[in-house]
Amino acid sequence: MADEGNECMTIDIRRRGLLQVGSALALAAVLPRCTTVNNNGDGAGISPYPALLTDIPRSNYGFATTCDEVAAGYDLAGKTVLITGCNSGLGYASMRTLVAHGAHVLGTARTRAKAEEACASVSAGMSMAQFSGKATPLVCELTDMESVTACADAVDQLLENYNKPLDVLMCNAGIMALPKLEQVDVLVGGKHVMLEKQFVVNHLGHYLLTRRLLPQVEAAAAGRIVILSSMGYTLAPEEGIQFDNLSGAENYKPFKAYGQSKLSNALFSNELSRRYADTPLTSNAVHPGMVNTNLGRYISGKAKDPDAPLRKGFKTPDQGAATQVYCAIDKRLNGVSGYYFEDCNPSVMKGENANSSKLAAKLWNVSQDLVSPYL
Ligand SMILES: NC(=O)c1ccc[n+]([C@@H]2O[C@H](COP(=O)([O-])OP(=O)(O)OC[C@H]3O[C@@H](n4cnc5c(N)ncnc54)[C@H](OP(=O)(O)O)[C@@H]3O)[C@@H](O)[C@H]2O)c1
Repeated sequence: MADEGNECMTIDIRRRGLLQVGSALALAAVLPRCTTVNNNGDGAGISPYPALLTDIPRSNYGFATTCDEVAAGYDLAGKTVLITGCNSGLGYASMRTLVAHGAHVLGTARTRAKAEEACASVSAGMSMAQFSGKATPLVCELTDMESVTACADAVDQLLENYNKPLDVLMCNAGIMALPKLEQVDVLVGGKHVMLEKQFVVNHLGHYLLTRRLLPQVEAAAAGRIVILSSMGYTLAPEEGIQFDNLSGAENYKPFKAYGQSKLSNALFSNELSRRYADTPLTSNAVHPGMVNTNLGRYISGKAKDPDAPLRKGFKTPDQGAATQVYCAIDKRLNGVSGYYFEDCNPSVMKGENANSSKLAAKLWNVSQDLVSPYL
């Protein structure tokens, strides 16, 4: 969180020119597995990721660090944070921590009931008049561009009422590996366009929400955008994004589609970073680790159950949320933009596609065309 007058070093470091270096990660089942993990709860853990990015600050946090440990010592009173998917898993853990440290979180969920229940559970006892240390429920159904724009309008109104900017936009909600092709009908220029659902929920809905809220983030002294990607980006098709198959109709594969959407998340963050390079606004992408949440709902077996005992290499939601909370508030990251974080430290993305500014620019333009009626 930007904090005028604080003692921390303010840096302005961007990722452009960074060499591509493969990360030492393999895939567990279909999802990647960490090479070295430490889930002994000591807070630090051993990061499996190489200390390759020497030009940006590193934390001493690691695999097992929790979001509460990351936020310890921070007073976020007066700050506003929007989190999509606030009612479950990583979004809920992030919201709980940030509210506990004084932030006003705008928590979005697919339905009002879910948003209200989640927000009420983290801001018990707070009055409507109070700004800090509470969560305000909002509806944002990411498959419905009308719902996304209504959410953005509601945020604009709220922020105007409080006379506050949006300090952090956390694009967190997501779905993974729908077993059968599901499509979303998006109306573009009077024409119905069918799009694969993971691309829409994970990327396109967030693209629209972000574009609509960018003026509010720019209004913050040093607004931050945090986008949940995933190591699953390595599962994307060979060409990265199949722009001629965004419907998913051709040869649909559940994890390939998830990988494409998660690559889109990282590319979107990189493009934001490039476009806002001359401003204080920053954007970073996050891989939270493999975390016991509801994300596995479409997968059979143990991965489906968020309450199953932690398997080796998996994190609790509080551990998983550490990296996104770190990117949202840690003072060391003032001005740090366009990076991909794992275990509360910058990491390198593997492969040409993830590091392609051409692909990132194309994704921005295609996404813009798809949501143009709502911009
Ligand atoms: N868990 C992991 O191992 C892992 C690993 C890498 C990356 N990630 C990423 O982390 C993010 C959070 O995932 P999680 O693990 O916390 O999963 P989760 O517990 O399933 O939470 C996902 C959230 O997204 C919401 N959501 C789903 N479909 C939506 C839609 N159409 N519109 C709006 N919101 C929608 C869900 O709402 P409902 O509860 O109403 O469905 C829920 O609030 C995702 O982007 C995911 O890709 C997670």
